[in-house]
Amino acid sequence: MNVRILYLDDDAAIVRLVQKALGRSGHTVIHAEDLDAALQHLGNDAFDAIVLDHYLSNMTGHDVLNRLRAEGIVLPVVYVTGSNEAQIAIEAIKAGASDYVIKTVGDDFMPLLASAIEQSVANAQLRLAKERADEETRLAKERAEALLAEVNHRVANSLALVASLLRLQISNSENDQVKAELSETQARITAIAGMHRSLYTSDDVSRVEMNIYLSNLLGEIGGSLGNPDKVIKLSFDADPISLSADRAVSVGMIVTELVTNAFKYAYPLELCGEIRVTLKAVGGNEALLTVADDGIGIEPNSKPKGTGLGSRIVKSMSAALGPGLQYRNTHHGTIAEVPIRIVP
Ligand SMILES: Nc1ncnc2c1ncn2[C@@H]1O[C@H](COP(=O)(O)OP(=O)(O)O)[C@@H](O)[C@H]1O
Ligand SMILES: [Mg+2]
Repeated sequence: MNVRILYLDDDAAIVRLVQKALGRSGHTVIHAEDLDAALQHLGNDAFDAIVLDHYLSNMTGHDVLNRLRAEGIVLPVVYVTGSNEAQIAIEAIKAGASDYVIKTVGDDFMPLLASAIEQSVANAQLRLAKERADEETRLAKERAEALLAEVNHRVANSLALVASLLRLQISNSENDQVKAELSETQARITAIAGMHRSLYTSDDVSRVEMNIYLSNLLGEIGGSLGNPDKVIKLSFDADPISLSADRAVSVGMIVTELVTNAFKYAYPLELCGEIRVTLKAVGGNEALLTVADDGIGIEPNSKPKGTGLGSRIVKSMSAALGPGLQYRNTHHGTIAEVPIRIVP
C-alpha cells in the first residue's frame, strides 16, 4: 500500500526523518508546519491520512482535530504525543483521531507510526467500501420495489381491461345463463385485479392489508350484483391482518364466491336482507373468515343450481389456506367459515 500522508508538526527535523523512513515503504509524506498550511495542502491535493503532533507552536493537536471536523475533513488522523501522556491520546481518540503513537527516542517510533497509518487507512477504506455497499443495497431495494409496484399496477390495469371486455360481452349477450356465468367470471377477475391494486398502494410490496383489500372488493361486488328490486345490506368487519399476495388472492376469490352465492340464493323471495363478512384474528397465527346471511339456508350436498364451479374453487382454495371451509348449523341462514393460517 502506497499512502499519501500529510504530516502536521512544527518540528521540521522530525518530519524529514519520517519522510525518509516511510519513503522506504513507498509512502509519500508532505510536511505542513501549521494548520493554515495543512488546510491549504488538503485543499489542493488528495491525501490518504493525516499525522498530527500534539504540540504545535500556536495551538494543540486537539484544536486541529476540532478544526478538521468543522471543515468536514474525514481523513483518518494518527495522533502523535510524548510519552506519559495517555490522557492526551485518549482525548484525541475521543475527538476523532483513528489511532495514536507515542513519540519515543528509541527505534520503535517509525515502525509503530507506519503500522498505525497503514491500519488507519485500511480501516477507513473498509468503512467507505461498506458504506458504498450499504448505499448500493438500499438503492437496489428501492429500485426493485418501484419496479414491483409498477408491475402490479400494470397487471391490475390489464385485468381491469379484461373485466371490462367481459362486461361488454355480458351486455351484448341475449342469453341469461351466459350473462350469469360471465358475470361470475368477471367478479373473479376483479378480485384478482384488486389484490394487485392493493399491493402497489401498500407500503410493503409483498403483503396485502386484508381489511383494505376486502372492503374495496366488497364495494365492487356489491356494486355489480346490486339489484334494483332488492335491498341487500353488505357489512364488513376485519381485524388488521396482512397476508402474502398468493394467500390474499385466495381469500379474495373465496369471499367473491361466498358473497355472490349469498346474493344469488339466500334471499329468493325477500325484498331485503343482510350479508355479513368478517375476518378476525384467532390467536397469533390464525384468522377466521366468515360470510353469513339470514336467508333460506343451504342444504348439505344439494345439487348446485348453477355450474357448481364456485364450490370447487372455494374448496380447493380454502384447503390451501387451512383446514378448509365449514358451513355452521344455524336456525336460519348460512354461515360459512374459512380458517386461515397466517404464514409470516
Ligand atoms: N348463502 C347461500 N344460501 C342458500 N343457498 C346457497 C348459498 N350458498 C350456496 N348455496 C347453494 O349451494 C349451491 C352451490 O353453489 P356454487 O358451487 O357456488 O354453485 P353456483 O353458484 O354455480 O350455483 C348453490 O347452487 C346454492 O343452491
Ligand atoms: Mg356460486
